[in-house]
Amino acid sequence: MDALTRYLDEHRDRFIEDLKAALRIPSVSAQPAHREDVRRCAEHIAGRLRAIGMTRAEVVATAGHPVVYAEWLGAPGRPTAILYGHYDVQPPEPLELWTTPPFEPVVRDGKLFARGAVDNKGQLYMHIGAIEAHLKVNGALPVNLRAIVEGEEECGSESLETFLRQRREQLSADVIVISDTGMLGPDQPSISYALRGILYTEIHVQGPAHDLHSGEFGGAVQNPGNALGVILAGLKDADGKVTVPGFYDRVRAIPPEEKALIKSLPFDEASFIRATGSSVAWGERGYSTYERTTVRPTLDVNGLWGGYAGPGSKTVLPARASAKVSMRLVPDQDPTEIFPRFEAQVKKLAPPGVTVEVKNLHGALPFITEPDHPALQAARRALARAWTKPPALIREGGSIPVCATFQEVLGLPIILMGFGLHDDNVHAPNEKFNLSSFHGGTRSVAYLYEELGAGVKAESHAR
Ligand code: BES
Ligand code: MN
Repeated sequence: MDALTRYLDEHRDRFIEDLKAALRIPSVSAQPAHREDVRRCAEHIAGRLRAIGMTRAEVVATAGHPVVYAEWLGAPGRPTAILYGHYDVQPPEPLELWTTPPFEPVVRDGKLFARGAVDNKGQLYMHIGAIEAHLKVNGALPVNLRAIVEGEEECGSESLETFLRQRREQLSADVIVISDTGMLGPDQPSISYALRGILYTEIHVQGPAHDLHSGEFGGAVQNPGNALGVILAGLKDADGKVTVPGFYDRVRAIPPEEKALIKSLPFDEASFIRATGSSVAWGERGYSTYERTTVRPTLDVNGLWGGYAGPGSKTVLPARASAKVSMRLVPDQDPTEIFPRFEAQVKKLAPPGVTVEVKNLHGALPFITEPDHPALQAARRALARAWTKPPALIREGGSIPVCATFQEVLGLPIILMGFGLHDDNVHAPNEKFNLSSFHGGTRSVAYLYEELGAGVKAESHAR
């Protein structure tokens, strides 16, 4: 065993303790009440980066939540990598479904439970451990490194976009490294070469001017709750196709080589569906589950409210009903192009007697890169060293808004090397990270920096 690997092994328990300290900070970016916790978390991450020997660690204020920036530029002539991660987390609600509280991390059965355990504090701390190991064992990193850790990924990354555009001159680099994705199975390392984009909207349906007795008025006027049901039901047809006119216009056909690659993946559909607790798979007719969640776009209700939802019954016609609806997009769909079409379709589906408002909360372009790019080959070598199987090349259904921005603003290749599993409960109660995934991931990223240092001089990769 080399000295680097030995260091990682010897310090594995302390790496988990360091991570737990970050997990105790409830950095929920979507909720205004947590604003100060988010800032405190940024300070905490900056402090950690400073402690392991990164220089210029700073907490940069933005119009939204702060961005943490740090660098280590002690390897002149070597390539420069940008490590991107996020320290914000999704809301932990519903709290009553957590076995132990979301911000009191605990290890049970070799799994670390907490909000952010894998998405993304856990995966960020794999890098922090790996960087520490390199600096302690060798006194240097194999590459120059800039770390950018943001606090708004879970709500659209708007301030980071401004940060990147303002600093584009100072952010010279050769490659971007991100661990915020998953693996196909616990011993199947994976590299993601595509992510879906997103369009996130809210629909507000207004009916009568105020709530009404449902006996006195029921049957006489349009009920916004019923009307919202009609609208939502009309957004997808019986084949699972989105009915928004033009929605599929820009969806790229899958080339035959990629179809073959997808067929060869060790994707375990049965266990993927089993992890959801759903009785059957359901989605767009004519596509497999893997395709439905990666190469095909979709539309989903994320939240729904209106009328009385308390205990017992209340006979009322609500004046308003609302829904949060998001669409996952694939190359070359563009959220700014889709929003007006979606808005028009919602209004067209609305029955008479209600007024409908459609809001665009945020959007991100999909991301795709060349699976054979030299940067991804360095990642393949690193994963092959750290695991028993060679990595799979996969597409994933989630979104990391900054990927498309990185491509556009900095024109650099992006390595998505993540270690989450489908049963990690990300964005749900009881989020966890398997300790074996954390340690395998830490080793992988430590090797990745070595492989990148050995020479990835990436050409420009702008779209
Ligand atoms: N880590 C996820 C992205 C992800 C999820 C990649 C699953 C691959 C598989 C990230 O933190 C995330 O959840 N992003 C949000 C972005 C959105 C709020 C703009 C997402 O995908 O919902
Ligand atoms: Mn997330």
